[in-house]
Amino acid sequence: MDSALAKSSAIEFAPEQLPAHIGVIMDGNGRWAQARGKHRTEGHRAGVEALRRLITCAVEFDIKYLTIFSFSSENWQRPQDEVNTILGLMKKFVASDVGTFVKNNVRIRILGSRDGLSASVLKMISDAEGRTAHCTGLQLNVAFNYGARTELVDAVKAIAARVADGSLGIDEIDEEQLSSALYTAELPDPDVIFRTSGEQRLSNFLLWQAAYSEFVFSEEFWPDFDRTSFISLLDAYANRKRRFGCVG
Ligand code: FPP
Repeated sequence: MDSALAKSSAIEFAPEQLPAHIGVIMDGNGRWAQARGKHRTEGHRAGVEALRRLITCAVEFDIKYLTIFSFSSENWQRPQDEVNTILGLMKKFVASDVGTFVKNNVRIRILGSRDGLSASVLKMISDAEGRTAHCTGLQLNVAFNYGARTELVDAVKAIAARVADGSLGIDEIDEEQLSSALYTAELPDPDVIFRTSGEQRLSNFLLWQAAYSEFVFSEEFWPDFDRTSFISLLDAYANRKRRFGCVG
């Protein structure tokens, strides 16, 4: 991310045309690398650069919440060297960029299960969250060790425990109760979910929260994502008519 971000932009969107919350599935790192005869891990390295460009754009356009799918609970099943590379990149990213986040008022939150994470990963999480806790600009949510079905199961268990101990009645269980038992409790639902690489699926990302999200898909692989891609995403969103089940 640039340390000094230009706030001025030639492209103008009215504030009500902009999404408050963007979810991003950064897909296609491996295919990007393979298409260049490189090892898949090179794609992840290039993916971090694309992520920096995304964050820079989100700050520039005053987006309030950005949620990125960085590592799913299923990603542990990838080859060990690839898992190690992604974890290493994340640690390096937090260590090298957290100062710039603070300078740009970016708050980091990590969404996902903490069960079974190593001490070094837990430290990375607490460093990133702790050092940016006071920031009030863009909130960057990193979905890590995240799976939406597990998130829902955990939420149901938490609600069931409250019913069992008598602090919550069955009739009091509603959408709000369930939303507030998710990792995303304090976040508004994503207005738009964006996925690169031509795949058009959610892959266990924000299943509950995406009920009324718009979906935008692009053919480019994640490492090719740049400011032009971001503006195309904003443009696509600005042209959608959201009705939330009503008549418009
Ligand atoms: C999808 O591409 C990408 C991932 C599973 C990991 C995303 C990780 C990064 C961008 C780097 C590290 C993250 C942070 C937060 C610094 P893929 O490997 O599934 O690509 P493919 O579908 O072409 O195989």
